[in-house]
Amino acid sequence: MRQNMLLQLTWILFTGVTLTFAATNSSTNATADTFKILKAPVISKPGCPNQCGDLTVPYPFGIGLGRSCGIGKWFELNCSNVFDPPRAFIGNVQIYEISDNQMRIANVVARRCYDRSGANVQSNTASSDISGTPYSYSDLNKVFLVGCDDIALVAGGGGRNFTSGCVTLCSGAEDVVGGYCSGNGCCETSLPKGLTYYSTDLRSSSNHTKISSFNPCSYTFVGEQGRFGFGGASDLLDPYFIERIQSTVPLVLDWAIGNLTCAKAQNSEDYACKADSECVDSDTGLGGGYRCKCKNGYEGNPYLDPGCTDINECADQNLNNCDKACTNTPGSFTCSCPPGQYGDGKKDGKGCIPAYQNSQFPVMKVALGN
Ligand SMILES: *[C@@H]1O[C@H](CO)[C@@H](O)[C@H](O)[C@H]1NC(C)=O
Ligand SMILES: *[C@@H]1O[C@H](CO)[C@@H](O)[C@H](O)[C@H]1NC(C)=O
Ligand SMILES: *[C@@H]1O[C@H](CO)[C@@H](O)[C@H](O)[C@H]1NC(C)=O
Ligand SMILES: *[C@@H]1O[C@H](CO)[C@@H](O)[C@H](O)[C@H]1NC(C)=O
Ligand SMILES: *[C@@H]1O[C@H](CO)[C@@H](O)[C@H](O)[C@H]1NC(C)=O
Ligand SMILES: *[C@@H]1O[C@H](CO)[C@@H](O)[C@H](O)[C@H]1NC(C)=O
Repeated sequence: MRQNMLLQLTWILFTGVTLTFAATNSSTNATADTFKILKAPVISKPGCPNQCGDLTVPYPFGIGLGRSCGIGKWFELNCSNVFDPPRAFIGNVQIYEISDNQMRIANVVARRCYDRSGANVQSNTASSDISGTPYSYSDLNKVFLVGCDDIALVAGGGGRNFTSGCVTLCSGAEDVVGGYCSGNGCCETSLPKGLTYYSTDLRSSSNHTKISSFNPCSYTFVGEQGRFGFGGASDLLDPYFIERIQSTVPLVLDWAIGNLTCAKAQNSEDYACKADSECVDSDTGLGGGYRCKCKNGYEGNPYLDPGCTDINECADQNLNNCDKACTNTPGSFTCSCPPGQYGDGKKDGKGCIPAYQNSQFPVMKVALGN
């Protein structure tokens, strides 16, 4: 079925009728990730390791299979000591980074190479499938194509069906400028939220015969936009291009707990948000799932007992704006002035003013007396 979608799209393209590359404007904004959970005093479930090699693993994720260190089977990481430093996997996918709302995983790159006569000498498609998990591809990812005589096709599905692609053309190596993916040696198109599988493929209109001197291979991959910098003509000849992408440009996934909305989850037995935290409906585009976050003025890991704890803003100069006295309160703080002074006690407000200094009144008096 999935392969059919791609073939169908390819067929449409090569009958030359429907070349509408709707460079899909994603209607939603890409959600930047935050890392508060990694700064909590307690990161992992007590008794569970919080580090696998270079990866810090916050609960609801956990290291070890079947040890209840994660909140469910999709949150259990296999930390493999076969590697040095050890590497973490969910299934056979390597996990690079986990944040409050996203995770970064290893990428897959499709490649197609041609010899001078245009014969296709090397070819692989690339696909990824995370359906059935509580994850989906983030819209921080874009579909990229690097090459000079190519069409990239991407087809995906999950929360919705999706097909798109982009086209590159170049007249000569000297025209290929790095930094931009605008169709000259590199193009990009966006990916909507909520996909749980996709596959990519490459096609060429002249089989690279006119450009074989500077561009034997083309590549397409889905990856985090902010991490990919197109290097220009040198990328078109780079024999280690795939290795570079795999080691520097991850795929970003949005994660969430389960498939219920906050309204429903709050009444369920296994509701995951602990004291002084709030439930946030996931924006994964899958139509369900939620995450927890500490209330304003609280910190910690919202998924772990005893929940989030009050931040003592008075203990940190950067967290309060009090001129003199600071009193910590649950979730907040108040500023006040010592006896004999008045004002709102705030550095960026009226501050604290001694009562006897309260105006230029005495000076005026003298002036009037003249
Ligand atoms: C797509 O985005 C461009 C610029 O970002 C904007 O000018 C254009 O109107 C958008 N198209 C649609 C259909 O939203
Ligand atoms: C995207 O972000 C802009 C500016 O931050 C905002 O004005 C706009 O409403 C957002 N669009 C959506 C669909 O959330
Ligand atoms: C976990 O990793 C180990 C070592 O790399 C491997 O032998 C094992 O098959 C993995 N377990 C699962 C369930 O993938
Ligand atoms: C996605 O496409 C498949 C196959 O073409 C179709 O069976 C399915 O109903 C579509 N799903 C949606 C949500 O449109
Ligand atoms: C490109 O190669 C394909 C087979 O790999 C062949 O069918 C097609 O005719 C070639 N096109 C050109 C323009 O050489
Ligand atoms: C939601 O998750 C539960 C438990 O994991 C599962 O049994 C159920 O089929 C899921 N529902 C949907 C609509 O995916």
